[in-house]
Amino acid sequence: MRRKIYLTAAAGLSLALSLAACSGGGAGSTGKTTGGASGAAEGGTVGVSMPTQTSERWIADGNAVKKGLEAQGFTVDLQFANDDIPTQSQQIDQMITQGVDSLIIAAIDGTALSSQLQAAKDAGITVVSYDRLIRDTENINYYVTFDNYQVGVQQATSLLVGLGIVDRDGKELGATGPFNVELFAGSLDDNNAHFFWQGAIDTLQPYLDSGVLVVKSGQTDITQAAIIRWQQETAQKRMEDLLTAAYSDGSKVQGVLSPYDGISRGIITALQNAGYALPDFPPVTGQDAEIASVKLINEGLQFSTIFKDTRKLADEAVSVTLALLAGEDPKPTANSVLDTKTYDNGVFIVPSFLLKSDIVYADNITSLLVDTGYFTQDQVDRGQM
Ligand code: GAL
Repeated sequence: MRRKIYLTAAAGLSLALSLAACSGGGAGSTGKTTGGASGAAEGGTVGVSMPTQTSERWIADGNAVKKGLEAQGFTVDLQFANDDIPTQSQQIDQMITQGVDSLIIAAIDGTALSSQLQAAKDAGITVVSYDRLIRDTENINYYVTFDNYQVGVQQATSLLVGLGIVDRDGKELGATGPFNVELFAGSLDDNNAHFFWQGAIDTLQPYLDSGVLVVKSGQTDITQAAIIRWQQETAQKRMEDLLTAAYSDGSKVQGVLSPYDGISRGIITALQNAGYALPDFPPVTGQDAEIASVKLINEGLQFSTIFKDTRKLADEAVSVTLALLAGEDPKPTANSVLDTKTYDNGVFIVPSFLLKSDIVYADNITSLLVDTGYFTQDQVDRGQM
């Protein structure tokens, strides 16, 4: 039996207003109760399960979702799972036992939550899969995320820009290389890692085929490139190993595809330890616009990152959750499109709301990240929240 929480028209209006307010909160918003709820959905509780606090984006995501829901009069149980699968399962079990009406989950391992989700379904709890697709279950309602294939395309495009092969519009500049590049992927248990990789490889493949790009290590398979749990230290170790194995002959790595800022920082440390220094630092890509990486981009040590506005994703999750609780079909917001073809979770194609991402380079940090209130100039300058 599905629970229904009835929202009045006033609640809908209040949602629109508070989502707009929520968008101004910045990446470091505290998630404090903002009040102003219409009271129409009073008493509802939403469990929000985020993977980890080691990456600031998930803290920003969790806080923004909490703030958006609290503005609607919901009680929010926000938990972070320390990147530990049993911890996340346990936290969700507890949310279900405590009688939440709805769940919003960014899974650590997309396949590890089947029994929790069965219990949620049996209890009539709606489930939104947040940013990462939950796989191998019929018991999720919707998926909110970014266009993950496109994120991979953007990462690879920025690498090609960094190498001087294409300009920012993707126009060929005629460089023939050959350029030595190395490739990194995310955690294989995260569905996103495969989408980022596919988008990137499809973009790089013509240049790998023509010999403009050369992966000297020969490690061109996602299973070789993957970094479990997206860990910085593991990425640093792999980069060190690659440098030892493929570049001890005096040759240099000239660019690195990285799918996430934490991984990028590991790669950059390994390169610095091996003597790479400005002004000849190879372009390293990234994702998430983490503040420490934004500083590195300012300094020229990281070349690019992909900005995914967590405030907008949080708005999306709140809006879908409210619709589900009201027994309505969720509608896209001004920021999203509904996709009913792409995200097959192994059991069904999960209806998904997709947002757009942007490539950040040193010269658009201000327009993308500061002018939009995501970070303050001071945070960018200090590289800290
Ligand atoms: C992915 C997410 C990325 C990045 C990564 C590591 O699922 O889409 O934006 O955050 O996890 O946390």
